[in-house]
Amino acid sequence: MGRVVVVSGGGTGIGAAAAELFAGDGAEVYLLGRRENVLTATAEKLGPRAHAVTCDLRSPRSVEAAVRTLPGTVDVLVNNAGARGVAAGGDDLTAVAERWTSDFRNNVLVAVLLTAALTRRLRSPGGRVVTVSSLAAVRGNGSYGAAKSALHGWNLTLASELGPRGVTANVVVPGFIADTEFFG
Ligand SMILES: NC(=O)c1ccc[n+]([C@@H]2O[C@H](COP(=O)([O-])OP(=O)(O)OC[C@H]3O[C@@H](n4cnc5c(N)ncnc54)[C@H](OP(=O)(O)O)[C@@H]3O)[C@@H](O)[C@H]2O)c1
Repeated sequence: MGRVVVVSGGGTGIGAAAAELFAGDGAEVYLLGRRENVLTATAEKLGPRAHAVTCDLRSPRSVEAAVRTLPGTVDVLVNNAGARGVAAGGDDLTAVAERWTSDFRNNVLVAVLLTAALTRRLRSPGGRVVTVSSLAAVRGNGSYGAAKSALHGWNLTLASELGPRGVTANVVVPGFIADTEFFG
């Protein structure tokens, strides 16, 4: 069996492109996302080594159920899932809290929960965790940029915890990528 690769948000955009590369390299690729039809369509396109796993990575219960369906050992975890938070307009504090909370859940919790659920199952030595941040983390973009920035601090701790096991953790910071669902 090839390497086991888990790609969150693997049904579309950057995640689907990464999954395609891994599948082409002979890996067993598990695509995670909320929409079953989107995941299934991408998995069918990638061939028999691609598998769709439907879940909402903001929910601990959903993450627990999803990881139960994955193989016991994971070689590569790509934390790619992310989304802009709700577009609650206005300056009243309820709207501000809603925007910041949803950007945090959509971009930080999705990576943290899945990684926490799989930490003990990462191949040791040799496992890899790659987390997709954004240029917004270093250039700024309100609550979305702040949420992506939080991934960087979290990753430093993760890397120091996993390093002694021979597992690496890195953050990738893409600039604008066209043809994904992110900008509609
Ligand atoms: N495109 C850009 O210019 C750009 C630039 C910098 C960074 N990024 C980052 O790159 C990553 C991929 O984005 P993309 O551009 O490829 O956009 P995309 O096509 O919208 O991909 C995001 C993927 O994440 C999944 N997802 C979102 N929330 C989820 C959740 N709660 N649980 C499970 N899956 C979830 C989505 O599937 P479902 O909706 O079916 O769940 C979707 O497949 C994101 O983290 C984004 O912030 C993008």
